[in-house]
Amino acid sequence: MNRSITTLTAVLLIIFSTTVSCECTKGKSASSFEVEYQWTFLNFTWENENTYNDAVTTKRYIPENNAMAGIKFYKDTFYIAMPRICEGTPVTLGYISTSDTTPKSEPLISPFPDWNTNDLTNHTCDKLENVQSMEIDADGIMWVLDGFRKPTSKCPPKLVLYDLNNEAKVVQSFTFPEEISSSKGGFLNDLVVDDSDGGFAYITEHGSVDPGIVVYSRAQNHAWKIRDASMFAEIDATNFVVDEVVFNKLAPVDGIALSPRNPSGPRQLYYCALTGVNLYSISTEILKDVTACSGGEWRVNVTHIGAKPAQSDGMVVDNTGVLYYGLLPLYGVGSWNSSGSFDDAGVVYANNGTMIWTDSFSFDDKGYLYLLANNIHKYFLTQCAFDSTEPYVKFRILKHFTGTQSYLH
Ligand SMILES: *[C@@H]1O[C@H](CO)[C@@H](O)[C@H](O)[C@H]1NC(C)=O
Ligand SMILES: *[C@@H]1O[C@H](CO)[C@@H](O)[C@H](O)[C@H]1NC(C)=O
Ligand SMILES: *[C@@H]1O[C@H](CO)[C@@H](O)[C@H](O)[C@H]1NC(C)=O
Ligand SMILES: *[C@@H]1O[C@H](CO)[C@@H](O)[C@H](O)[C@H]1NC(C)=O
Ligand SMILES: *[C@@H]1O[C@H](CO)[C@@H](O)[C@H](O)[C@H]1NC(C)=O
Repeated sequence: MNRSITTLTAVLLIIFSTTVSCECTKGKSASSFEVEYQWTFLNFTWENENTYNDAVTTKRYIPENNAMAGIKFYKDTFYIAMPRICEGTPVTLGYISTSDTTPKSEPLISPFPDWNTNDLTNHTCDKLENVQSMEIDADGIMWVLDGFRKPTSKCPPKLVLYDLNNEAKVVQSFTFPEEISSSKGGFLNDLVVDDSDGGFAYITEHGSVDPGIVVYSRAQNHAWKIRDASMFAEIDATNFVVDEVVFNKLAPVDGIALSPRNPSGPRQLYYCALTGVNLYSISTEILKDVTACSGGEWRVNVTHIGAKPAQSDGMVVDNTGVLYYGLLPLYGVGSWNSSGSFDDAGVVYANNGTMIWTDSFSFDDKGYLYLLANNIHKYFLTQCAFDSTEPYVKFRILKHFTGTQSYLH
């Protein structure tokens, strides 16, 4: 990040600090992001009262240690990824129904696919250990990235595909080899799915030891990895503040988004470092070619799209090619029509009361874009010290009308 961008960020911070929220889009679809669901503590649909009481007594469940990292919508259900960084986190992947009977505040989360798969009491590597994100393709296959590994972990990271239209049966599973993501300290963070040529997932490896982008081919059941300086943290972009907490880590590539199918050329993969403001892209024609990825020539094909006004975590592209990305220290969401210049990118909406750490995006099938704002930097930076003395709303799913769908459609 160069000095003029730092200045721009500072100027924007000043503008935004004088206003609580803004509806910033020029043009027709301007609307706010409104809170749809919110939680102070995560709680679950326990099998019975005994199980719940036992989990509390044995500290298998410590309410304030449970957090949300990713959301994806499919057929009236939100699937929710919950990191297991701290003790007392009984479930890493769950769901809530979006039916009218689901409360908007503190809805109980059910484990997916069941309690047993989430239970690490007798830890075997087929259990779900630490899910931070997933994607659901047009056929209803949920690609679950069980990708975060503590230094004490015993099982390597994996990708598990569940068929949501067939009793959540596992239709494929892939374990990542050590050289792609370490079983101790690896952090496969976020993914997008490309349905061409038998299906691909593009995944950000966010671990500080060997960050990069991992390509997984479903047809070949094989993965490979590329690394480039554009995937590293930007030193000048560290020490940004979100809700009075300074983010001081050098966090590499994290946000990832895929352009929709396009008859006039290959899809583009967009990515950015968490500690960074620069947005890059690369053609999937290169990513899908394992030979092309093994040399270094592909690096000339990395495109610098531009500098965002702030750091981002999650991103998503809709089916018309509009990219949405969180603007963490601005408490907002930015958007860019990828058919045009990045100079025309803007801020859709910002709200420093509700959009605290704009993390994960998902479209529904009715033209709404959902955003999970989750205070997650506090969870990761303060070693499991989400403040429980003065409980506050930490997780919000917000809703914004775009009239579009996900890049998968
Ligand atoms: C939000 O912005 C207002 C106006 O600048 C400020 O008074 C308030 O402290 C801010 N709240 C947070 C949580 O940052
Ligand atoms: C958590 O949910 C269970 C139902 O699954 C309920 O019995 C219990 O009271 C809840 N705990 C809290 C603190 O709300
Ligand atoms: C764990 O294994 C022990 C010994 O095999 C068994 O008694 C117990 O029921 C198992 N617990 C779970 C939750 O699978
Ligand atoms: C990569 O860049 C080279 C050199 O500019 C160009 O010839 C080639 O067509 C590019 N490949 C792709 C897939 O864009
Ligand atoms: C994006 O830009 C293209 C080309 O200028 C335009 O046709 C399209 O309507 C734009 N999309 C939106 C959502 O503004």
